Amino acid sequence: MKELKGKWALVTGASSGIGADLARLYAKAGCNLIITARREQRLAELKKELSQQNDIRIEIIQNDLSTETGPQELFDTIEDRKIQVSILINNAGIALSGKFNDIPLDKKLGIIQLNLVSLTKLTHLFLHGMISRKEGWIMQVASVYGFQPGPNMATYAATKAYVISLSEALNFELKGTGVKHSVLCPGPTRTEIFDTAGHTTNILMDNLSMDSMDVAKEGFKGLLNGKSVIVPGAINKALVSSNRFSPRSLTVFGASLFGKEGTSRK
Ligand SMILES: NC(=O)c1ccc[n+]([C@@H]2O[C@H](COP(=O)([O-])OP(=O)(O)OC[C@H]3O[C@@H](n4cnc5c(N)ncnc54)[C@H](OP(=O)(O)O)[C@@H]3O)[C@@H](O)[C@H]2O)c1
Repeated sequence: MKELKGKWALVTGASSGIGADLARLYAKAGCNLIITARREQRLAELKKELSQQNDIRIEIIQNDLSTETGPQELFDTIEDRKIQVSILINNAGIALSGKFNDIPLDKKLGIIQLNLVSLTKLTHLFLHGMISRKEGWIMQVASVYGFQPGPNMATYAATKAYVISLSEALNFELKGTGVKHSVLCPGPTRTEIFDTAGHTTNILMDNLSMDSMDVAKEGFKGLLNGKSVIVPGAINKALVSSNRFSPRSLTVFGASLFGKEGTSRK
């Protein structure tokens, strides 16, 4: 943990959920923070909370990563502020619920832009400097959904499958460079994501949901330890390993139960 003190961590999607909790953990470890998302007011509240508890610098950058130019603008703003990012947490993401044919094309392309294209661009932009300095930490946030196709959340699951595949390859490629790379694959977690997606959770998801701070803690520890794939929670770990030995048709059916609409938690 000492190795992180005083370094700058960039957390995308820090205005709520897992991202806000990851920001809390990096602040506690003595990192300076760049927190980014679209909702500036939420970022300001988080900054106030973390500034009261920690002696660190915190920069807020409002940015929309569902746009083509978002990642480059974020990178340029950080360069203009003369900040060197040592830790990149690509957490921002949305879910998209419903049958593929019922969802408008712009929504499908929007989730690909945010969950996949922007994550790739930010990794590209920040990795170069980390490799030349021979030091860095990158964590991508995927999902257990990425381990198999996800009926009723097909595009979401496909974006997360890309993130897992990219991440495992990067973890391998980056060995010996001084840059650690991990992918965090949460299962259902109590955050705002399903409300935003307009998805009413079902009894299966409600009962299996983890607390976002518990998920963030596993991600934080896993990245420090250089773990390639981090699956938080015993049940999620068991589900992911059972996937390897089950027929593909069965895992697709299992995922369809999670994607099924149910009654809202509210
Ligand atoms: N909760 C779960 O069950 C679960 C399970 C597996 C994986 N995950 C993954 O965990 C990550 C965090 O999600 P969460 O569960 O913590 O949900 P959340 O509470 O809804 O947080 C999502 C974050 O992403 C940001 N975001 C959304 N659209 C954005 C955009 N266009 N530009 C920039 N930032 C944007 C949101 O901020 P603004 O709205 O302020 O922009 C927010 O800070 C996501 O990648 C998600 O796929 C979640």
